[in-house]
Amino acid sequence: MQNRNDKCWCGSGLKYKKCHMEMDEKIREHELKGEIVPDRFTIKTPNEIEKIKESAKVNTGVLDYISKYIKEGITTEEIDKLVHSYTVEHGAIPAPLDYEGFPKSCCTSINNEVCHGIPSDSVVLKNGDIINVDISTIKDGYYSDASRMFMIGEVSEEARKLVEVTKECLEIGIEQVKPWGHIGDIGAAIQEYAEERGYSVVTMFGGHGIGNEFHEEPFVSHVGRRDTGMLMVPGMMFTIEPMINIGKPQVYLDKKNGWTSYTKDGSLSAQWEHQLLVTEDGYEIISK
Ligand code: MF3
Ligand code: CO
Repeated sequence: MQNRNDKCWCGSGLKYKKCHMEMDEKIREHELKGEIVPDRFTIKTPNEIEKIKESAKVNTGVLDYISKYIKEGITTEEIDKLVHSYTVEHGAIPAPLDYEGFPKSCCTSINNEVCHGIPSDSVVLKNGDIINVDISTIKDGYYSDASRMFMIGEVSEEARKLVEVTKECLEIGIEQVKPWGHIGDIGAAIQEYAEERGYSVVTMFGGHGIGNEFHEEPFVSHVGRRDTGMLMVPGMMFTIEPMINIGKPQVYLDKKNGWTSYTKDGSLSAQWEHQLLVTEDGYEIISK
């Protein structure tokens, strides 16, 4: 245990009593009430936050850069090449490449694909498609992760509406992020918003803690109940990345490639993702 006059564990250089002591005591109180609380690894130090933000800067740069090229006629392989070259030119590494055997530098998921679509030179974007491009970056060993939807040419009204509502689901999820709230608040808000509009929320995948590793604690479900799940504490960092279906929430995995998930009923699916930092008074979107 740390003494009050020791230097704080977070590396700020301040005395513990002037830095994280009060917060640690508050976390302990919640833990004694039986709540799930984050450990030290899950709470980022000021130095880690700075490094992760550097990573996120490149990650956002990738998304901005590729946006200009995502049009009818481009292959997802070409998108992947743009992601790879931009990332490497900015002194970073695409996190998906070789991650648990993933073969490419980003995920490209079209129409009824829910997530983890694999870029391929046989997949050409066509008028009316909706596509999620999911970008993750490692810079100096620190991880960042965000994704956006793109609508190709003229898309159907139902596809446009799905993309829009899914973005709103992300925004509403983000608004729940504040210290001393709970991770379950996020899923509850998203589920309520999506289901009220007749959509379903994929439960098979969720957001995740991120920073020192690609996927850390906590798991961030996009469905749930308020006041449940891990306590949110300043310095925590995680993604919110709701996958919303027009039809039913069930998904199936591509047996051939072992990665891509599709909606079971063939309906359209959309996803948007941001990476959040819990701050003293709310949140900061670091993937902006
Ligand atoms: N945002 C996605 C996730 O957290 C990125 C997956 S990259 C992959 O699942 F390599 F794992 F596919
Ligand atoms: Co993610």
